[in-house]
Amino acid sequence: MTPPRPDRIVVGISGATGVVYGIRMLQALRSAGVETHLVMSRAARLTLAHESAMSVRDVLALADAHYAPGDVGAAIASGSFRTRGMVVAPCSVKTLAQIGVGSCDTLLARAADVTLKERRRLVLMVRETPLTLTHLRNMVAVTENGGIVAPPVPAFYTRPSGIEELVDQTVGRALDLFGIDTGDFPRWGGPHPAHGAPKTTRRRLEGSLTRP
Ligand SMILES: Cc1cc2nc3c(=O)[nH]c(=O)nc-3n(C[C@H](O)[C@H](O)[C@H](O)COP(=O)(O)O)c2cc1C
Repeated sequence: MTPPRPDRIVVGISGATGVVYGIRMLQALRSAGVETHLVMSRAARLTLAHESAMSVRDVLALADAHYAPGDVGAAIASGSFRTRGMVVAPCSVKTLAQIGVGSCDTLLARAADVTLKERRRLVLMVRETPLTLTHLRNMVAVTENGGIVAPPVPAFYTRPSGIEELVDQTVGRALDLFGIDTGDFPRWGGPHPAHGAPKTTRRRLEGSLTRP
């Protein structure tokens, strides 16, 4: 996948629990030198208030550009605005449903639909459990359209020391799907010869999950 110049990714943050994934995504992309264009749904502003000490303004400041959730005339609503793709982190089942049926009545859903129609990478970090048949069918619809459903499911083989490491691993694996290696999380390298512990490599990501 050849990235456009400048290298840009659209980041959607919807109202599923786990706003931290969107925050960390923005920090990781900034650290990787990728331009970010952010749209936060109205519900995401609510989950942010419940789940983080950061304000909406703090989160918006992590992006290079940001847009109001109803601004369907924004740059990211057009396929002529070149991007590498879009990630929705986290993705609610409501937003999944909108994208699954091609509804474009919010900027987030429109930007995702544009990403699919332009055959660019779309990654949805869908967060809900348990799942209904409707949720699963919407995941199938998105997948049939070329999108990738990548729920934020943590891995434990790296023996994470806390939530931050779990989040960074999950965000890093989502960015792998764009060919971006954050270097911020340990990768499985086979069992350690001495004692069976995972052989991992990790670079610490700058920034905080609670402060801008
Ligand atoms: C604290 C909180 C946690 C929520 N967690 C989830 C969730 O994990 N998954 C989900 O699909 N919806 C969740 N919701 C419900 C969504 O916010 C709601 O369906 C909303 O309409 C989604 O809108 P959006 O997709 O436009 O952001 C949560 C709501 C709140 C207030």
